[in-house]
Amino acid sequence: MTIIRQPQSWEISESQVTSEAAYFNRRRLLKTLVGATLGASIMPIVGCEQSSESKKALATSLDTASLRPVDTNPVFAEVNRPITDELLAGRYNNFYEFGGNKSIWSKAQNLPTEDWKVEVTGLVNNPRIYDLDDLRKKFPLEERIYRFRCVEAWSMVLPWIGFPMKLLIAAVEPTSKAKFVRFTSFYDSKITPGPGFHVGSLPWPYTEGLRIEEMANELAFFAVGIYGHILPKQHGAPIRAVLPWKYGFKGAKSIVKVEFVATQPATYWNTIDSHEYGFEANVNPNKPHPRWSQATEKFISKGPDLSWEKLPTLPYNGYGEYVASLY
Ligand code: MTE
Repeated sequence: MTIIRQPQSWEISESQVTSEAAYFNRRRLLKTLVGATLGASIMPIVGCEQSSESKKALATSLDTASLRPVDTNPVFAEVNRPITDELLAGRYNNFYEFGGNKSIWSKAQNLPTEDWKVEVTGLVNNPRIYDLDDLRKKFPLEERIYRFRCVEAWSMVLPWIGFPMKLLIAAVEPTSKAKFVRFTSFYDSKITPGPGFHVGSLPWPYTEGLRIEEMANELAFFAVGIYGHILPKQHGAPIRAVLPWKYGFKGAKSIVKVEFVATQPATYWNTIDSHEYGFEANVNPNKPHPRWSQATEKFISKGPDLSWEKLPTLPYNGYGEYVASLY
């Protein structure tokens, strides 16, 4: 077991976890898509949140209202790995609407979450626009400790608070024609600048999708909180998808629309490159991504400095007993 410690406690860059070459390759992919040079417009890799002011701002961004008391679902109360340090999870994020590096937590604070509405629509008997109070009242909240595995071969363990997606399915009653669901994230080009180049050429808004049977699986979860309190903006406030047997990109953040549809929907990364980012995207150590072997992962857990352990990646991220029968 290798443990690597980095000296800079507030300088977490994607290149410290994912190799720098891989980092730039993901950007090259975007560049190819948009047919443009990255030039000077790409954001710096290393975040600049080193001052005590930035530390305070980070802590403030994570200091959202408590959702406790909330019961931890005993079935998902632990995963034989420690929960990732909250400050690390809260400053090492992917949220391309706000930038192309990992240090977008401060930019994500521009996300306007007041009066949030989620439209549930499409092939359902009971279409409805929910506000957050409706959702919280209608669907009892529970805590679940889930493994989280990014396609970039890093992982965390995160304590989400939310409710199973199957409860929403029961409430809106999809018709027999509904075979897939599409999640759409918040997008407003005045607020979400994108990764800093050719915003208009990327397939915004961020969308993701599932087969209905996947959405109905016990594991599929809508999170409205994390670490005992309301979801901070960088984690995809106020509501996001959490699908622990799939790569992290399947979990759309800041969802504004849930649409039940008849055919497989186009999704953000799959539209950018369907070979690299499949629609199914189940965690699979035996299926390497063109740039990241998926056999092992860099498990990020202890703070305050970034550190990781190299661990083997498990099929379905360790959740085969729940989902293997779907495939
Ligand atoms: N959702 C939206 N709307 N935009 C994104 O860029 N990134 C995805 C996913 N959901 C993303 C998103 C990816 S690639 C990952 S790994 C996870 O969010 C990261 O979640 P976290 O920042 O809370 O760890």
